[in-house]
Amino acid sequence: MKVGVIGGGNLGSSLIRGFLKSGVLNPDEIIVSDPDERKIKELAKLSITVTSDNRRLVRECEVVFIAVKPDLVETVLKEVEDLSEGKLFISVAAGVSTKFIEERTKARVIRAMPNICGSVLQMASAYSNGSRATARDENIVKQLLGKLGTTFHVEEKLMGAVTGLSGSGPAFFFYLIKAVQDAGIELGLPRDVSFKLAVQTARGASEILLTSEEKIDELISRVCTPRGTTIEGMKILEEKRVADAIREAVKAAAKRAEELSR
Ligand SMILES: NC(=O)c1ccc[n+]([C@@H]2O[C@H](COP(=O)([O-])OP(=O)(O)OC[C@H]3O[C@@H](n4cnc5c(N)ncnc54)[C@H](OP(=O)(O)O)[C@@H]3O)[C@@H](O)[C@H]2O)c1
Repeated sequence: MKVGVIGGGNLGSSLIRGFLKSGVLNPDEIIVSDPDERKIKELAKLSITVTSDNRRLVRECEVVFIAVKPDLVETVLKEVEDLSEGKLFISVAAGVSTKFIEERTKARVIRAMPNICGSVLQMASAYSNGSRATARDENIVKQLLGKLGTTFHVEEKLMGAVTGLSGSGPAFFFYLIKAVQDAGIELGLPRDVSFKLAVQTARGASEILLTSEEKIDELISRVCTPRGTTIEGMKILEEKRVADAIREAVKAAAKRAEELSR
């Protein structure tokens, strides 16, 4: 199966790296198009086909990811509209509805919201089917995105929530880990030691959550022994209403996704 990726930026290139790393696609099954020579040169090192010609890509591929910025989707669709019949377009553009794409092309459409963790096969993503998408199309999406991590089908009206939570989520977690790292540095730890302790702690905590039967609140209580050290830190988190701030951050990102919706 030939898979094209229009837009080889942050998201497009992380999808491609994930497809190759997971083995779900071979290099000779992937074509990427991007106007930026520098990005194309970098992606060519992966032995995939690179081009600046979106029309060539759509002509040659059965499945086409649209990974340009949302405001450029319409331009790209205009460019390839006459080649779209019989193709599956998978759009990852935030806020762009399946209807918007269906009205401008003859393609079958699935809208997906991945995140940049695909390159390390730890992506959290969700997708919604457009009105013309078939069961086979959904299987293709599940197969491709599922190999990069975890994927869920959601109703399209929930795509804003997914965007705020897992699409934007990596940045929120990077921010939190950086704060933990900075605290370690302020307490005298060398920068690299503090970084690795912070990151490995986040990884370990995630791993426990993914494998344990215990609820999050039970796990928190398990670390917070009475009169111990963790509880002192938890008091500050509660006092400063950190949970509220994080909830607001996810909701603000989701709201922005809704505002950008077309
Ligand atoms: N970044 C994320 O974490 C994330 C997560 C979920 C969804 N998304 C979605 O993914 C899409 C891409 O985001 P991104 O962060 O990857 O943006 P990005 O890094 O700017 O990548 C977009 C790429 O598309 C290229 N491009 C511009 N016009 C094009 C055209 N006409 N044909 C082909 N390629 C073209 C851009 O080249 P130039 O730089 O030369 O313009 C750029 O390399 C967005 O719609 C976003 O909503 C992103």
